[in-house]
Amino acid sequence: MSTDKLKQETAPHRVILVGVGPGDPEYLTVRAVREIAAADVVAGFATVLAVVEQLIIGQGMVLTYSNQEEQLAELARMHTAGKHCVVCCYGDLNFSAQELIARVERHCGKVERVSGISSVQVACARAALAMDETLFFTLHAREGIMEAQKEIVAAALTGKRNLIILPLPWSFMPPQIAAMLLQGGIEGERPIIVYQKLTLLGESQRRTTVQQLAESQDEFSDLSIIVLPHSLDTSRTADEKASNL
Ligand SMILES: C[S@@+](CC[C@H](N)C(=O)[O-])C[C@H]1O[C@@H](n2cnc3c(N)ncnc32)[C@H](O)[C@@H]1O
Repeated sequence: MSTDKLKQETAPHRVILVGVGPGDPEYLTVRAVREIAAADVVAGFATVLAVVEQLIIGQGMVLTYSNQEEQLAELARMHTAGKHCVVCCYGDLNFSAQELIARVERHCGKVERVSGISSVQVACARAALAMDETLFFTLHAREGIMEAQKEIVAAALTGKRNLIILPLPWSFMPPQIAAMLLQGGIEGERPIIVYQKLTLLGESQRRTTVQQLAESQDEFSDLSIIVLPHSLDTSRTADEKASNL
């Protein structure tokens, strides 16, 4: 696709928010690659920009927690001046990126969203879970995490769906989540998996129990995802289940 065609597709002129996948550049979409290569300015946190640094032809703009307001104000000025501006985020921007989206939109107006491959999709693939049998929760919440905590415990108690939970670095990490589940009445023996650094060098998985994870003193990466498989009996085949109806 030519750059002209790309520009037509993204009209009206908006800042483009691009999901860059879970970290390995092989998980970048072709569309993301094109948007980044065609941009005059590519903004994002340093760890996210590192995923796409080979693709940036224009100017890179590193956001930090302390400079993001002024950097995004500058990005908005460039956007108004007609520059093609892209902001990158990890994974897919439609999952657990609401705060960033709101911040960019406050400065630059409504953004165009270019989906990426989410870390939760990779976690589903690693654990062989159907996404349609899985509920997704993030503790990266803007207004406290109490509501999300209650919802997670309630969903875990029913046991009907697999749960995928993003911890909150560094205040509510995998052991705290397991302790919350125990306190909420989840059995200590229930299997639980922690994936770290999915698709990246050093990727790991830990298959353990809720009790053992709650007692763990280990360090966990900020790139950690918890999978709590559903607790229903899946030992019978679909035919066996149908014959009981
Ligand atoms: C602010 S959220 C953004 C999620 C992203 N929008 C997505 O779709 O993957 C950041 C959290 O995503 C999870 N995450 C992102 N990339 C990951 C990876 N490669 N491995 C494990 N967890 C990851 C971690 O829980 C991390 O703290």
